[in-house]
Amino acid sequence: MAMPSRETAWQECINPDCRAQFECARALFKCPQCGDLLDIRYDWDRIARPSRLSAFADRWARRDQPLDFSGVWRFRELLDFCPDACKVTLGEGQTLLERNDRLASQLGIKPGRLFLQYEGLNPSGSFKDNGMTAAFSHACMVGARSSACASTGNTSASMSLYAHACGLKCTVFIGSGRIAFGKLSQAMDYGGHTIQIRGDFDDCMRQVQAVCAREGIYLVNSLNPFRLEGQKTIMYRVLEGLGWEVPDWIIVPGGNLGNSSAFGKAFAELRRVGLIDRVPRLAVVNATGANTLTQLFNERGLRWNDGRVDQAVIDAYYDDLTQRGFSPHTCASAIEISRPVNLKKCLRALDICNGVVLAVRDEEILDAKAQIGATGLGCEPASAATIAGLKHLLADGVVGRDERVVCVLTGHPLKDPNVTVEYHRDRKGAFSNPPVEVPNDLEQIIRHL
Ligand code: F0G
Repeated sequence: MAMPSRETAWQECINPDCRAQFECARALFKCPQCGDLLDIRYDWDRIARPSRLSAFADRWARRDQPLDFSGVWRFRELLDFCPDACKVTLGEGQTLLERNDRLASQLGIKPGRLFLQYEGLNPSGSFKDNGMTAAFSHACMVGARSSACASTGNTSASMSLYAHACGLKCTVFIGSGRIAFGKLSQAMDYGGHTIQIRGDFDDCMRQVQAVCAREGIYLVNSLNPFRLEGQKTIMYRVLEGLGWEVPDWIIVPGGNLGNSSAFGKAFAELRRVGLIDRVPRLAVVNATGANTLTQLFNERGLRWNDGRVDQAVIDAYYDDLTQRGFSPHTCASAIEISRPVNLKKCLRALDICNGVVLAVRDEEILDAKAQIGATGLGCEPASAATIAGLKHLLADGVVGRDERVVCVLTGHPLKDPNVTVEYHRDRKGAFSNPPVEVPNDLEQIIRHL
């Protein structure tokens, strides 16, 4: 169905040979004509918006208004796909860009050049809330009654929270034994109907798409293009934290590749509408045990190629995974994904931002996590892949020691307490800080101070 010409926002297939357009009033998730990913596109000439980015910060003064309080909807003109009456907000996006000079000095970076974007400060403790507020606003706009997702944990926690905020049913698909404890506890506590599949995230992702298509359930994984619109605002807040200056680098963990895709789109759009004049470079960091993007981008030369991504390269890689019976494994369970659904959009983001891709070992992730905890507010393992990756990028001279770098810390440290306790208690790394046990005796206690 063609899109009526009066719309200012619409859905559009990213495949340049298709480019089919659909109204935002439909819940599609993939192009019905060719099966490729969908984007939300805007007629920027018809959207009234501030002429400078700093005007968005003026909304801080009206924090009694829920849409101005929200760190997502404060920027609503930049994701203008639904009427205000449909918007669902839980006060997401009250997050912090922290300048961290102590960690910078440990890494040999100049003071004032390393920043950590703490998305763990969101209502459900991860960046997902940025996307969920947008997806559920769209779900309400199209009159959805029930929602579902596959998850490594954070999506399920966030979905469960937002689903009951707007009265939708929700079902979570998780791989048995593949989810951190804090996240599972949230999904159950927030009332998500939790189904454990004997398989990994990629199995769950495949099943949930089939379930949603067959049962008409609203899918909130990052395949959903509206979710990515919400996640663009993480970058708007990074710019806000830097006084509206563009950093040199954004470093982000890569799992299903929704964030990296959203960030590339955010910067491309800001440049397109003249709110910034250059884009930062992007580094996407995989875990070595779940390194599909690294393999495809670095070893097999897969590129965006103006939208004509070489599908044969992807298919050959996935066929090989299947033949080997490969299942990804990393201590960073959030990014334990081997068939990332947003692969093509991430390639586009890497193209826009002259990006790089790398993979880091679990030991490196755990050490980086302990360093982030000891110098800042802490994070979950997947988030620490950013600092682990930055160490490599500095050593290889890809990132300069005087460049301004922002690492996106995607989840709260309490999401995965088991990994943290084991690292410290069992002295698993260079930064382990185990508790000391002493007799119940004042002299002995003082001796251990
Ligand atoms: N960091 C955390 C804490 C995550 O939970 C995820 C993804 C990622 C990074 C990867 O982000 O998919 O945008 O590349 N978690 C999903 C989930 C898959 O189900 O919670 P991405």
